[in-house]
Amino acid sequence: MKDQDIIELARKQQPMHALSQAFYRDPDIYEKDIERIFMRSWLYAGHQSEIPNPGDWFLFEMAEESVIIVRTTEGGINALLNVCRHRGSRICVEQSGCSKRLTCRYHGWTYDLEGQLKAAAHMDESFDKSEIALKRIHAELLDGMIFINFAREPASFDPVRDGLTSCLRPYRLENARVAYRQSYPIKSNWKLAVENYSECYHCGPAHPEYSKGHGIAVPGVRSGEIGRQVLARAEACGLSDQMVNCMYLQSPGFGADFSYDRYPLVRGHISGSEDGSPVAPLMGDIRDYDGGATDLQVGPVTFGLMYCDHVVIYRFTPLGKDTTDCDITWLVNGDAVEGKDYDRDKLIWLWDVTTEADKLIIERNAAGVNSRFYQPGPFSSMERYTWDFLEWYLEAMKQPMGEDKPAVWPAAVSAN
Ligand code: FES
Ligand SMILES: [Fe+2]
Repeated sequence: MKDQDIIELARKQQPMHALSQAFYRDPDIYEKDIERIFMRSWLYAGHQSEIPNPGDWFLFEMAEESVIIVRTTEGGINALLNVCRHRGSRICVEQSGCSKRLTCRYHGWTYDLEGQLKAAAHMDESFDKSEIALKRIHAELLDGMIFINFAREPASFDPVRDGLTSCLRPYRLENARVAYRQSYPIKSNWKLAVENYSECYHCGPAHPEYSKGHGIAVPGVRSGEIGRQVLARAEACGLSDQMVNCMYLQSPGFGADFSYDRYPLVRGHISGSEDGSPVAPLMGDIRDYDGGATDLQVGPVTFGLMYCDHVVIYRFTPLGKDTTDCDITWLVNGDAVEGKDYDRDKLIWLWDVTTEADKLIIERNAAGVNSRFYQPGPFSSMERYTWDFLEWYLEAMKQPMGEDKPAVWPAAVSAN
């Protein structure tokens, strides 16, 4: 599809309706999604506790791209593109590792942890190693969470950090630890996965386990008396009673969205677990259970579920036009010991069953959306937030390709 046709299609989209089929099927629209959305947005890469020591690294992989997230000798964090400056081979091929130097196995070019080329055999005398380094993209830390951005000049991350600092502080996520991380590949376009995450219209039919304890699944509970009681208890429990919402078209910069939205748990639940009881020690400075949970969002495709005793981070990224990676991280307090302070199976139970159910309904949605008989239908009032996401997405699609096109470029930026 030509770019002008994509722009026209985005302009013609009916508000509060599902998207036209081409947005899920057309390969040119998928390419535009990558260029206009994923190359310009802040994306969750992982938590700093996954790379505690110099030389520790893990890979962030999305579409055709692969990024080495590495702890430097000085303790900073670099996001280096996993593309050798010789003939382009991938350098790191496992998902994670620890190495003092990064060596490409094709012809042995070797880089230090800053990405600087240090060794290359049999090159002629005029070859200057000091002029060659792995390309580097922007990386920022938000309370121990590593966010990256491929754009040469991304929207500033400062408003995200400033806007969320006081809400996140009590959890002390910089001291948290990854208890478990798992990828759930979904056979669907990435937008269907984000659309599904953004509404709870489906929670009743699809998620009995989740709906049992989460007030968000029941219309009106959040803004009612029980919601007010949760916020009134926040301070005594060591939590913030602030809420922030700077999402999508309201965000301070493209791809630099953020929100923190606390709502009540119901039926005596105080955590996100099978029976609603705690599954790990209280996090950070939190002193007690307030009976609530938080929906966190950072950037357009990273979401968090914050309970007083654990935090779950979701990230949706495309692996291809019809495959999406749903990457989930479970964080607990840094000093919590598995088997003693928490049971891993109990910790992950709720969001594992919920994600398996979501995977199924998203894949069924994808199958129907790809039918020649698919016709976009109207949204309910419970899908308002999904429309906020789509409205922002369509605005991005209305921008011509090539203009203000983000370039991957070595940027002298690293998180410290
Ligand atoms: S492609 Fe990496 S050393 Fe040749
Ligand atoms: Fe769901």
